[in-house]
Amino acid sequence: MRLLVTGAAGFIGTNFVRDALGRDDVERLVALDLLTYAGNYANLADLEGDPRFHFVRLDVAAREPVATLVRAERVDVVVHFAAESHVDRSIADERPFLHTNVEGTLALLAAVRELPGFRCFLHVSTDEVYGSVAEGRAREDWPTRPSSPYAASKAAADGFVQAAAATYGVPAAITRCSNNYGPWQFPEKLIPLFVTNALDGLPLPLYGDGMNVRDWIHVDDHVAALWHVLSLAEASGRVYNVSAENEVPNRVVTDRILGALARPATLVRYVADRPGHDRRYALDAGRLRATGWRPRRSFADGLAETIAWYEEHRDWWSAVKSGAYRDYYERMYGSRLRTSRDAPSGAER
Ligand code: NAD
Ligand code: DAU
Repeated sequence: MRLLVTGAAGFIGTNFVRDALGRDDVERLVALDLLTYAGNYANLADLEGDPRFHFVRLDVAAREPVATLVRAERVDVVVHFAAESHVDRSIADERPFLHTNVEGTLALLAAVRELPGFRCFLHVSTDEVYGSVAEGRAREDWPTRPSSPYAASKAAADGFVQAAAATYGVPAAITRCSNNYGPWQFPEKLIPLFVTNALDGLPLPLYGDGMNVRDWIHVDDHVAALWHVLSLAEASGRVYNVSAENEVPNRVVTDRILGALARPATLVRYVADRPGHDRRYALDAGRLRATGWRPRRSFADGLAETIAWYEEHRDWWSAVKSGAYRDYYERMYGSRLRTSRDAPSGAER
């Protein structure tokens, strides 16, 4: 494979690239990333010694440079992670989400449309496109019902990938994965935020009543699922849900983190809810399982390892949580924390 991995310096991109370079079937790996607030070159710097690895700092939506790059590198597989990925930021300003998630996907699709020898555009999407799942588990044939600007931008990108497959014959597949956790996740997302705050004895800002449910999967299992999808012959824009079918309410995740770190429950602060907050995500991953993929990590083991990773990598997240991050944190949480409670609003004490 001559791979182009976009968003390579983000959370899942980093885990994917590090795994990819351990494989014999990867002849070339071009890692593209704009290095926004979420991208961290330090995650990949030690890979520069591998002659197969080439890092390029580039906006995925920059059509001409992207097209030139894929031609010059004779890319035959694209794994497209590059995105604005945080729901709360999309509520504050949707424009970067439209630019990267939609225009970036369109730029890549245009770049590979007539590329000689091109084999697969693997579009890494999300379960959030289905919206909140009141009952049962979302299947691939469910309609998309995005609640947040982030989810809307991902659903739009999914549609453009399917359109490129149908209209121009671009070989493509789409994965829709549930909530990932693991090493190198930016500490704006629930698990790394709460682990690092707990390590520093800082409040854990739980939204609403803390009983929203997410369907957690270790990033290694997501990465393995992506390789698995690449190994399938099907490349006509087919969608594959990726999930360990492991639903946990946020308060339970929070209590497990506090328990693992022996920190008091008094750190938990109930804050004003996220607008449009999806109550529950739950995916049916039967289509992918039927092709032989299985998740390997239990949530108990995966979470314990993840917490240990953040304990051991304080230098990494201390650097990330400095500078602009502090302004972000104050904007996002400052006033909410000042009006927070130690129990959900209206709940019995
Ligand atoms: P992340 O925010 O950690 O990383 C995103 C990366 O994209 C960063 O390195 C950033 O610098 C880069 N990027 C942003 N804008 C760019 C641009 N214009 N040009 C080039 N690079 C740009 O995100 P993540 O959690 O690693 O998610 C990766 C992908 O997986 C996203 O597409 C996301 O929608 C999807 N996904 C994430 C999860 C999850 O739980 N984290 C679950 C399902 C799907
Ligand atoms: O489901 C897949 C999606 O998972 C990905 O597509 C997104 O890129 C990724 O960010 C993630 O989205 P969520 O919105 O589910 O993740 P987040 O970590 O922001 O929130 C998880 C849950 O925790 C959600 O119910 C909101 C809640 N939460 C989150 C934060 C950051 C809190 O209660 N407090 C917080 O401070």
